[in-house]
Amino acid sequence: MPPDSHFNAAYYARFYENPATAVVDAPLRRDEVRFVIAFCRYIEVEVRRFADVGAGTGWWAREFSRQYRRCPVIETFDSSRDACDTYGHRNVPVQKLTGAASDLVVCRDVLRYIPDVHIEQAIARLTKKCRGVLYLHIITSDDKVDEKASDMTGVFRSTAFYRRRLKAAGFRDCGMGLFTSPRLKKFAPFTLEAR
Ligand SMILES: C[S@@+](CC[C@H](N)C(=O)[O-])C[C@H]1O[C@@H](n2cnc3c(N)ncnc32)[C@H](O)[C@@H]1O
Repeated sequence: MPPDSHFNAAYYARFYENPATAVVDAPLRRDEVRFVIAFCRYIEVEVRRFADVGAGTGWWAREFSRQYRRCPVIETFDSSRDACDTYGHRNVPVQKLTGAASDLVVCRDVLRYIPDVHIEQAIARLTKKCRGVLYLHIITSDDKVDEKASDMTGVFRSTAFYRRRLKAAGFRDCGMGLFTSPRLKKFAPFTLEAR
């Protein structure tokens, strides 16, 4: 596992801020956020509370607030002191996440950095935090990764590892990283086919 100091200014500059080396660009940011918002709209989840856990530079929350202007509560968390100081997050690691549940929880490219000793707790905290849609982006051992362009630290667990635990927590796997909370009673998956 990388030490906390791994996620420093140089890290965010290389993988996010410098267009020549960044792993996400503006069209990807726009389209990914639009896709997740469209899913929430489609299943009629009104996002009154949004949380990004392991927010990094905070681009997801910024893009979200541009595209979804009526969300009153936007929370961002990270365990990196540099990320919190620079981008304004609360300094809370996912395995200690607390606070009111959110309608949309995003945890993007974070869980591979959580060591085995904390991973069950991290998933339990995400479960508690989410009352609607959980959007997870996780690089797994089943993925092909551009090793030159990417940060290759962390632990690449299997997709099955995460699927098993999210299912046990009661989440419904809707594909493409989208999971619905067992607390979301009004969502009936067959409506996706019936409409
Ligand atoms: C690859 S970056 C992803 C940032 C952002 N989610 C994105 O997709 O652009 C990983 C982020 O996870 C954060 N992180 C690592 N371990 C964490 C933990 N235990 N709790 C919360 N955040 C963590 C790092 O500080 C870093 O900002």
